[in-house]
Amino acid sequence: MAKPVLIINGPNLNQLGIREPEIYGTQTLDEIMKLCSEIAAELDLTTDFRQSNNEGEIVDWVQESALKHSSIIINAGAYSHTSIAILDALRNITIPIIEVHLSNIYQREPYRQVSYISKAAKGVICGFGSDGYDLALRAVSKLL
Ligand code: DQA
Repeated sequence: MAKPVLIINGPNLNQLGIREPEIYGTQTLDEIMKLCSEIAAELDLTTDFRQSNNEGEIVDWVQESALKHSSIIINAGAYSHTSIAILDALRNITIPIIEVHLSNIYQREPYRQVSYISKAAKGVICGFGSDGYDLALRAVSKLL
């Protein structure tokens, strides 16, 4: 049976396509969602693809995922660099967590070079644009 992967996108990622395209590329989040569902089908996975601008909503989704999903791929956007609440939620579940960023956060401003999410993630993929989601799904497929 295909295994469901929760893909969480944090604040401002709903603006992809028009948001700083020189950093984040020109693909929209809808296009990335479609790409993820196609790759997942090849890998015998299904995707539950979500976006929220609200920290608490993301915490709720992580808590619920323990019962519903096989794994989490998360691009927490700016919350990656600030949210102990999301980190605490991620630390309390045992399913594999892969962190994704479109940009290479280590080449950017110092405040983007620290991620709380990384402390709970099995691995981090950054700097490959939307291909990072593809790579993350392949990583999940190997881990499961
Ligand atoms: C991001 C990097 C973050 O620093 C930024 O706040 C984002 C997007 C990325 O995908 O490169 O919103 O997570």
